[in-house]
Amino acid sequence: MHHFKYHQGILQAEAVPVPRIAEAVGTPFYLYSLATLEHHYQAFDQAFGRVPHLTCFALKANPNLAVLRIFARMGAGADIVSGGELYRALKAGIAPERIVYSGVGKKTEEIEFALKKKIFMLNVESPEEMRLIDQVAGRLKKKAPVAIRVNPDIDAKTHPYISTGLKKNKFGINIRESLEEYRLARDLPHVQIKGVDCHIGSQLLLTGPFLEAVEKLKKLVTALEALGLTISVLDLGGGLGITYHEEEPPRPREYARAIIQALGRESRTIILEPGRVLVGNAGILVTKVLYVKRGEEKNFIIVDAGMNDLLRPSLYGSFHGLLPVAKKKAPAIQADVVGPICESGDFLAKDRTLPLPQAGDLLAVMSAGAYGFSMSSNYNARPRAAEVLSRGREFDIIRKRETYADLVALERIPAFLRGKPKERNL
Ligand code: LLP
Repeated sequence: MHHFKYHQGILQAEAVPVPRIAEAVGTPFYLYSLATLEHHYQAFDQAFGRVPHLTCFALKANPNLAVLRIFARMGAGADIVSGGELYRALKAGIAPERIVYSGVGKKTEEIEFALKKKIFMLNVESPEEMRLIDQVAGRLKKKAPVAIRVNPDIDAKTHPYISTGLKKNKFGINIRESLEEYRLARDLPHVQIKGVDCHIGSQLLLTGPFLEAVEKLKKLVTALEALGLTISVLDLGGGLGITYHEEEPPRPREYARAIIQALGRESRTIILEPGRVLVGNAGILVTKVLYVKRGEEKNFIIVDAGMNDLLRPSLYGSFHGLLPVAKKKAPAIQADVVGPICESGDFLAKDRTLPLPQAGDLLAVMSAGAYGFSMSSNYNARPRAAEVLSRGREFDIIRKRETYADLVALERIPAFLRGKPKERNL
């Protein structure tokens, strides 16, 4: 469900015509809908009903402060993977006691930052990390609340780049070896074991792998309790998929129902770390057609957004729907929709059939709210796009378009290179 619909042939975000925003902010820009974001959060969170739970939005999907504030106001927590994400979450007003920290490469400074801010829990991904956390907490005279992220060796049946719960992946501690690691952690003076954590992958389209994970976690918890440990939290990670094209992922209600059933009489607090499902379909990328180039073998629609703005098609071969912002009656053209970047891998869509556009027409790249702006870069010295939030008939810029000056703002030419280059004859 989302609020990007046509009204009299013009695409609107809620009640704002998209061309109006394009006129005001230029292109390309990301556009999110407040109503959709709120609806998605509510549908997800309420699906778990009275089961004691905490919905921790995975910031990596979309860390814009305004987006975070929307979720914070609704009581969300955050799943973070870096000091930068912790900074953002706090800045947006997410309470530290609602923040969990995952990731295989936490640095000493980041662990310190998290402990000083008293976050809810660190999800530990290796024995060495556990020891470092113990040392850092000792130095700060604190006890670090931890869970071990276990790798349950489950095939999430998703793209190999975004599958994380297999033995061959770098994430977590093998579930069989985790028992020993829990035993060792129990004796560390400065960690307090709170829970068990797993995250098996992203864009999952079946409930089966989640249920398999719950079953494995339950067995582990029984074994841990036999060791005398108190496990008060089960973190089930994120990963619920969305519809980009024709996928039919479980709805949040189905997903929650299946999990609740698998949990059985569990009364522990569960943590969920949804990213994509909350923001993916709540955002689009609006881009302008620059040229239509007809070739012998292929046609190309060249637009002003490239792989630096939306990397997913290039990196994963992902499908994103494409809609003309203004519907038009024109002959159809089959073409690759490509950006201005100097790489053959720079495309937003391949072999797509669209009404023949003209230079200046706007296209909407759908389902771009998750891992869109957050994975964007300045490659080819392209200022990053603006981000806009629609609300009813209004809209606000929630991140300004970068300028050329922004591109070089942090760079410095050392003194020994100063002075203008000499003129040279060719
Ligand atoms: N928790 C952990 C520990 C994670 O690593 C992730 C995502 C999530 C939660 C949120 O997963 P979600 O609910 O969004 O599936 N860039 C890729 C996705 C990478 C996901 C990485 N981890 C993409 O564009 O598809």
